[in-house]
Amino acid sequence: MQVSEAIEQRRSISHYAPDPVPSTQLREMLALATRAPNAGNRQMWRFIIVTEAPLRQMLARLIQRKFDELATWPEFAAQESRLRALRDNALTFAQAPAVIFIVNLGYHLGIEPMLTEHGIKAREVESLFSHPDIQSIAGMIGYFTLLAEERGYGSCWITDALLAKADLQAALELTPGEELLALIAVGTPAEHPPFKERKPIDELIQWR
Ligand SMILES: Cc1cc2nc3c(=O)[nH]c(=O)nc-3n(C[C@H](O)[C@H](O)[C@H](O)COP(=O)(O)O)c2cc1C
Repeated sequence: MQVSEAIEQRRSISHYAPDPVPSTQLREMLALATRAPNAGNRQMWRFIIVTEAPLRQMLARLIQRKFDELATWPEFAAQESRLRALRDNALTFAQAPAVIFIVNLGYHLGIEPMLTEHGIKAREVESLFSHPDIQSIAGMIGYFTLLAEERGYGSCWITDALLAKADLQAALELTPGEELLALIAVGTPAEHPPFKERKPIDELIQWR
């Protein structure tokens, strides 16, 4: 399969067949995906692969609990359907046979202390380079989704579940300085969603 075919065929998948994804496949796809460009080749990622249903369900319950909690806030009183839609998106991994939790180990150029010492606010320093760690990990996830497509698997890149980030991080025993950045659900697709239209490219390009 050509890369362009994988790009054209890939869809975000919410419904999966129960067939397991062999660990060799998951390992190979991650090994290839981590060849993606990444800032300074620091490879600021690690992966927690959950294939055991009881653990997956426990993690899903943590997310459900967080959404239930939000539903009791007066601010969400008139937002029931919006909250439900977000919860459903957060839980698209709940019946996927494999879920990859992507851990951001962080990236520092080393000059940040000098910049803050000079008076630049920590927050400005943080956004100055536009988050190379997040950019690197996002590129790698994009690669992964195409590799999954090539091998006949569906996937879904998930961040809505991070509403329960603190609980998930505790349950997965992340260490200080590590942050959960995204989840990828992986499995044999049990649906074929239609293509979601994109904006016409010529509206987006400015030639200078
Ligand atoms: C950063 C990011 C976060 C996303 N989070 C979720 C999510 O939490 N739940 C979900 O079902 N889909 C999620 N998606 C998938 C998008 O909704 C999907 O890519 C978009 O609607 C386009 O559809 P397509 O991937 O099928 O082309 C996410 C995608 C990205 C890149």
